[in-house]
Amino acid sequence: MLDFRNVAIATGVAATLALWSVLPATAQDQITIKFSHVVAPDTPKGKGAERFKELAEKYTDGRVKVEIYPNSQLYKDKEELEALQMGAVQMLAPSLAKFGPLGVPEFELFDLPMLFKDRADLRKITEGDVGQNLMSKLDAKGIKGLAYWDNGFKIMTANSPVVTPDDFLGLKMRIQSSKILEAQFEALGAVPQVMAFSEVYQGLQTGVVDGTENTPSNTYTQRVNEVQKYATVSNHGYIGYAVIVNKAFWEGIPDDVRGELDKAMAEATIYANDIAENENATALQAMRDAGTTQFHDMTEDERAEWFEVLQPVHEKMSNRIGADLIKQTYSALGIE
Ligand code: LMR
Repeated sequence: MLDFRNVAIATGVAATLALWSVLPATAQDQITIKFSHVVAPDTPKGKGAERFKELAEKYTDGRVKVEIYPNSQLYKDKEELEALQMGAVQMLAPSLAKFGPLGVPEFELFDLPMLFKDRADLRKITEGDVGQNLMSKLDAKGIKGLAYWDNGFKIMTANSPVVTPDDFLGLKMRIQSSKILEAQFEALGAVPQVMAFSEVYQGLQTGVVDGTENTPSNTYTQRVNEVQKYATVSNHGYIGYAVIVNKAFWEGIPDDVRGELDKAMAEATIYANDIAENENATALQAMRDAGTTQFHDMTEDERAEWFEVLQPVHEKMSNRIGADLIKQTYSALGIE
């Protein structure tokens, strides 16, 4: 028979432990930051995390220890957000497409197809008012946003050519958990399917999904090119990250130590954002060289054709993101 007294004790212990894990460190205690992420170490995010670890440990003279858990080793996409809120890990850098389940769908702004022309455009948002206002929305969720980290622009892959919008008709396409991405593929006549990043390779290999979109770096490091015969370098959308921490944990760190961590984060951010473009270019070239996938570089005419189909997604999804936010973004980007 279930002993309710023991259950109550066990629950009490668990609650104490959970609280303990987010409580501030006192005196000279060592502070451990568990940084969980879903991509390979050899990616812009993976390398950014390593750089943060190196600098954080150096600037705090070892008072802070950063443990990095890449490749969904600890948690998959959705679970890692829950783990952060519970204090089981302290730092994450989820893709901006994954904040819907946290109750901040406005980050899906970054998923709007064909919104950013290039990285300079992107900076106007991440380094401007729009980006800062978005970050501040996390506070109410017990989370603090520290920085935006780049990955890059996406390519489309499948086992049949994906050159014109018609080519997507009926294809099952893996997406991140973003309603904007869902709408994007619906506009193309495809069947979007949310799938955790760690399951993408197998999903494609076994035919659970037919194709996907991702940055060259993610495509290459997950060996997706080995199970996709065709790719279009379309740069139709963007993947980037918000580096986030458990707010109670972060604010509980002694001020002087947190100051050093802020410095480490600022420098790691510059580094991650500096290498991202090149990491993606190198990955793209490596996949072209590998020869398992036939690459098509989108022409200007094709871009115009995609734009016609995909641009209406902005208006259609304005309720989810907020018409004002879209307007503010257009104005920052100089879009009429
Ligand atoms: C994806 O799920 O495709 C990406 O968000 C993975 C990542 O973190 O870059």
